[in-house]
Amino acid sequence: RVRSSFLIVANRLPVDRTITADGTASWRRSPGGLVTAIAPVMQRRDGAWLGWHGAPDEELKPFEHDGMNLIPVPLSAGEVELYYEGFSNATLWPLYHDVVATPVFSRVLWDAYRAVNERFARAAADAAAENAVVWIQDYQLQLVPSMLRALRPDLRIGFFLHIPFPPAELFWQLPWRREILEGLLGADLVGFQRPGGASNFIRLCRRQLGLQNQRQEIFVGDRTVRAEAFPISVDFGELDSLVREPHILARAKEIRAELGEPEHVLLGVDRLDYTKGIGQRLKAFGELLADKTISPGEAVFVQIATPSRERVESYRALRDEIELRVGRINGQHGVLGVPPLNYFHQSYDREELAALYCAADVMVVTPLRDGMNLVAKEYVACRHDLRGALVLSEFAGAADELKHAFLVNPYDVEGLKRQMVAAMRATPHELSRRMRSMRRRVATYDVDRWAGEFLAALER
Ligand code: UDP
Ligand code: G6P
Repeated sequence: RVRSSFLIVANRLPVDRTITADGTASWRRSPGGLVTAIAPVMQRRDGAWLGWHGAPDEELKPFEHDGMNLIPVPLSAGEVELYYEGFSNATLWPLYHDVVATPVFSRVLWDAYRAVNERFARAAADAAAENAVVWIQDYQLQLVPSMLRALRPDLRIGFFLHIPFPPAELFWQLPWRREILEGLLGADLVGFQRPGGASNFIRLCRRQLGLQNQRQEIFVGDRTVRAEAFPISVDFGELDSLVREPHILARAKEIRAELGEPEHVLLGVDRLDYTKGIGQRLKAFGELLADKTISPGEAVFVQIATPSRERVESYRALRDEIELRVGRINGQHGVLGVPPLNYFHQSYDREELAALYCAADVMVVTPLRDGMNLVAKEYVACRHDLRGALVLSEFAGAADELKHAFLVNPYDVEGLKRQMVAAMRATPHELSRRMRSMRRRVATYDVDRWAGEFLAALER
């Protein structure tokens, strides 16, 4: 077996295997921002990507896909339930996102999390060449850094957390807080989306583990661990050239025609997740129709809500809640043939999304808490025409950089309505001024720069 000198370790591979009821298997792109960011990084480097392929109880051999070497790690159906749906997505995900849903604390889930992290660490130890660089990703694998270091002290180990790292007051609730901190400290460099995440982590290492630090450096025995922010980004160049292609422009025109040529097209693109504030934005839109600030036909809202973690209870409840709201708004305010809300519980490919971004006058991104939110940056990367307005939550990591968006507090319905209206009514001059400045930022800090800066800091 060839061993790699550069290894990505993530819960998911970039492709997801689904087995339909009749037993046929097919590959699709995996959902979410982690894959969007890591895929181009991997395609431009030699190495391998180790992760789960999405189907339970199935062992697969390493294979190549889209210029990447992929090494599948198997999970049993029980592990999918306890480690992935359970500890990762019913405990850590809500805890790290400001407890917007109530986290489940269960020892059975924790045991599965530890066992699966051990499997990933062993697989990484087998796949890494002498002195290799291993870059571990996200909250599903926080124990892997120290487990891997114990097996392979020769490696350079980096870790990046794609979601927020919570304030000490919340993290403190976790019965396994010490183990998670010690797990992360196995890395040489721990990266966060925002400076606040890094300082939360450093504060916890001092308070929980009694460690000393000097600014970003934490002293752990005879080792030094760096904790620092590296805001993740998108492949600006790829999107910018994609949307200049005639077939994308033609599709964008066609989308507007299919929607009935409204004056304003508003767009939301999210995984169907309770952190995304989908209900809040639909409520605001519904109220604008109810108080006749806008009329159906004048403004149309397109909401794409990609299926996600469908067996986790809070995700099921959210789906019911959102679909009820959509039905109510269309039922109350729709006109024959003109529903004000177009809702899709489906997943779209890059090209269709790019066309949708080009067709949208107002992109509405209103998470209650989000590590970064790549959708916001993708919209900016697609608008070389300098048209289009971005309504963006202050609680998304992206708000640190996209200061010229129409910033909102998604909990404040009045404020949200005001900013949506301001975005719809802004002059072309104002829109281009805002968009130009946001594009400058995303073009400079693109995903290559993000990966380059992280890996350079890891080498130091
Ligand atoms: N996305 C997609 N198809 C869809 C919906 C979303 O490919 O139907 C992509 C989107 O373009 C973005 C990613 O999924 O790259 C979502 O990343 P983001 O950081 O916004 O949120 P996350 O899902 O990681 O929480
Ligand atoms: C977010 C997380 C990723 C995750 C993605 C999709 O981006 O940070 O780690 O892969 O959502 O979620 P899923 O549970 O389908 O992998």
